[in-house]
Amino acid sequence: MSILVTGGAGYIGSHTCVELLNAGQDIIILDNFSNSKEESLNRIRKITGKDFKFYKVDLLDKNGIENIFAENSIDSVIHFAGLKAVGESVSKPIEYYTNNISGSLNLFELMKKYNVKKLVFSSSATVYGDPKKVPITEDMPLSTTNPYGTTKLFIEQILKDLYVSDNSWAISILRYFNPIGAHESGLIGEDPQGIPNNLMPFISKVAIGKLEKLTVFGNDYNTHDGTGVRDYIHVVDLSKGHLKALEKLNKEQKGIFIHNLGTGTGYSVLDMINAFEKVNNIKINYVISSRRPGDIAACFADPTKAQMELNWKAEKNIEDMCRDSWNFEQKNPKGL
Ligand code: NAD
Ligand code: UFG
Repeated sequence: MSILVTGGAGYIGSHTCVELLNAGQDIIILDNFSNSKEESLNRIRKITGKDFKFYKVDLLDKNGIENIFAENSIDSVIHFAGLKAVGESVSKPIEYYTNNISGSLNLFELMKKYNVKKLVFSSSATVYGDPKKVPITEDMPLSTTNPYGTTKLFIEQILKDLYVSDNSWAISILRYFNPIGAHESGLIGEDPQGIPNNLMPFISKVAIGKLEKLTVFGNDYNTHDGTGVRDYIHVVDLSKGHLKALEKLNKEQKGIFIHNLGTGTGYSVLDMINAFEKVNNIKINYVISSRRPGDIAACFADPTKAQMELNWKAEKNIEDMCRDSWNFEQKNPKGL
């Protein structure tokens, strides 16, 4: 029996595939390489010394997905595939709704048809909108501020409705906070195309000299130093959370479970710059500018539920995250 991993060539997917293979699982990867490269599959093989089946299929291609279910004995699905750039989703809402929602519906429909009812879904802390308080617990009100976030919220709702219609499903919704870092080998990591939107890839590009300076978006937030605070989590810790979520589904056999995957600690933009400079012994040029539209002051998790119910806890610290991000950047200055 295999685990189908959609989006397995991507940033979080590739790290999770490594953990799954290392744990002796059989996996099948589906990806259309819209935001990743085939090389990441070679790197997964290199790190683990293991092979797996791969299908270059778009989730919008129902026949392509059906073919995978027909040809293989699939036990469960980890669903990473989706478009994820917040700003781009504002300018391309139709593409985001089509890709993320129609793609997910195609997948769920075929899971149903082939009686595969165990699913782990990649949601995001973005579903909490501008939270009324931090740390954020899973029962806090949900809202979104951009089409990307709305796709996550809608897919969560679709999964809740699916479970109501047939409670033999076992569904895990994981709300990720801010994944950064890379595999310690430096063979896989975040490989953004063009100028990065997110803080850590931007810092890495400044450190390597590809970008001149970082712009810090606002120092007038109500936080300890005025800059935005987030819950950065090492991608390897995050990946391990997926194995724990699958264990839970295998144990319970049915149910719908929602968990935050974060560390519970918030760091500001300036904290991140300082940590990166210190651990890697390199200077980061930056300027302070005005706030980025749509940003919130502070967002960090209460990870207690995942700790209690999944027996999962982030283990790596901010130094590990900064060191591993820089190691990946140095080993792959041109990307994968
Ligand atoms: P990523 O872009 O690196 O990986 C997503 C993968 O899905 C890519 O390899 C892409 O080619 C593939 N893909 C996209 N649309 C597809 C389609 N229609 N058919 C087949 N493959 C398709 O992103 P990531 O950072 O690894 O994120 C994985 C998941 O986690 C996404 O759903 C994302 O929204 C979610 N998430 C990410 C973050 C983050 O900050 N990275 C935070 C919260 C949630
Ligand atoms: N920041 C800068 N300069 C930059 C980039 C970011 O100062 O060049 C700041 C932001 O203002 C924010 C912090 O760094 O305070 C983190 O920003 P990111 O863009 O790295 O991450 P966000 O928290 O804005 O968003 C991320 C993902 C979203 C996801 C959200 C919640 O990109 O997809 O976390 O999970 F929805």
